[in-house]
Amino acid sequence: MTTTTTTRAETGAPEAAAPAAGDAKDAAAPFAPPRLAERARAIAANPQEWVHRVRLDPQGRWYERLHQDADHEIWLISWLPGQSTGFHDHGGSAGAFAVALGTLEEHRVRARREVGPGQARSFGPDYVHDVRNTSDAPAVSVHVYSPPLSTMRRYDVDAGGELVRLAAESADDW
Ligand SMILES: [Fe+2]
Repeated sequence: MTTTTTTRAETGAPEAAAPAAGDAKDAAAPFAPPRLAERARAIAANPQEWVHRVRLDPQGRWYERLHQDADHEIWLISWLPGQSTGFHDHGGSAGAFAVALGTLEEHRVRARREVGPGQARSFGPDYVHDVRNTSDAPAVSVHVYSPPLSTMRRYDVDAGGELVRLAAESADDW
């Protein structure tokens, strides 16, 4: 099943774009981070596309792929309180996530921000973050990656506050 309404005109070659918020030209590119955020927000705002895929699993985040094509993929993630991704990157993919229900926190090594319902974050390749449900209620979020994820690396943070690379995961692992 696909939830996409993407047209052929929108599925040009993915951009290997760095984040360029505010740059009108890059913001209009098909798969630049601002467009990924727009797409994630649009799906998050339309519960009929995902509400039947929500599942709250005490064992860990529940994630389901809503769509995949050569240019991008879309995942739905359901979070119970306390569940988190751990620090990770997205290989060479750019991405965005939008909160559909509840509130998440995005942690970077030296910063964190709350992402509430209807809000989104976007990022270019090589971006590292840890997304957590630190609230006391479940949360649901929509994640868009372009190109589709092929590798992800996990990180720890050492005593000095520096990222330490851990294992790499490939698309075969998820
Ligand atoms: Fe991520």
